[in-house]
Amino acid sequence: MVTVGLSKHTQRTIWSNDKGTNRFAEFSEVPGFAVVARVLRAPPDWSANAVIITLPISLPSDARAGGDQLSGDGSPVRPPLKWAGGKRWQLPVLRPIWRAHSERRLVEPFCGGIAVATGLMPKRALLNDINPHVINLYRWLRSGLTIRLRMRNEENYYYRCRDRFNRLLRQGKSATAEAAQLFYYLNRTGYNGLCRFNKSGEFNVPFGQYKKLDYKLDFQEYRSAFGDWKFTDTDFQSIKLRDDDFVYADPPYDVEFTHYSRGGFDWGEQERAACWLASHAGPVVLSNQATPRVVELYRSLGFNLQFLDAPRRISCTGDRTPAPEVLATMNLT
Ligand SMILES: C[S@@+](CC[C@H](N)C(=O)[O-])C[C@H]1O[C@@H](n2cnc3c(N)ncnc32)[C@H](O)[C@@H]1O
Repeated sequence: MVTVGLSKHTQRTIWSNDKGTNRFAEFSEVPGFAVVARVLRAPPDWSANAVIITLPISLPSDARAGGDQLSGDGSPVRPPLKWAGGKRWQLPVLRPIWRAHSERRLVEPFCGGIAVATGLMPKRALLNDINPHVINLYRWLRSGLTIRLRMRNEENYYYRCRDRFNRLLRQGKSATAEAAQLFYYLNRTGYNGLCRFNKSGEFNVPFGQYKKLDYKLDFQEYRSAFGDWKFTDTDFQSIKLRDDDFVYADPPYDVEFTHYSRGGFDWGEQERAACWLASHAGPVVLSNQATPRVVELYRSLGFNLQFLDAPRRISCTGDRTPAPEVLATMNLT
């Protein structure tokens, strides 16, 4: 049985099968209409008659640009940063899981670009990342950040702002509103939205050389969206979990060289994170690249495993093969 419907919350067309998943179809938006769905791979229990519909409805301009997140009051909230490993693409899989738990507190020990929190829009959340600059920006967005910095997509100006940001860090002023504005600007304008530091702790991402960039200057929408969310910047294991918390964990991928922050995230860290999550009494969803040792580790700890095809950006060889990812879950019922 295939159902095609229009989600009340997202104003996006939702496909689902009996299991409530919709990872088998791709959605694209058509200006002036709702969504066109294209079946990628029909699961065996779907009818052979694939249905493609377009609905003439009016979408908020942000949603039409690709945003599918609506805040509690109906206004769209997009993640403010570009962030490596963002999991926005998992939302169609995560939403049906979250629906049964939406009264719980959402805890993200590795929140990064908060694509998942802004997609699920929990009433209560604890969002943590060891990167203090990203958390500083979110804290300022929650309390109301006014942009005073000029945002210019120019190489010389970028390097002057980078120097200014590094000076603030040296002076112990990394938690200021100015540092938050600079961090936002550097993230948009720098190469690929990367966040890298050299051995002396200086932000060293080069200019991004984008042809065109749009900067957000009004962040008011985040004040209400982040209202009851708490932000912390500790190591994941310092988080005080409550038994009924719903944990969505997206640690750095299991690859040899991952440097999201100083220190990196090696295999020992992967094991530490997996064991910590496996000891939680409440629901856990854990995402990672499906390398053989990750799959073995998660299975040995008693997680239920589901495999997803992550969208892969086109590589220099033109390869578009999706990278397999694993979604490991525990205590969902
Ligand atoms: C894959 S990213 C998360 C992306 C996020 N789910 C999103 O959709 O944007 C992993 C994050 O883990 C953070 N991280 C790395 N080591 C950590 C640690 N020991 N404790 C907490 N966070 C850590 C990194 O700073 C990075 O932002």
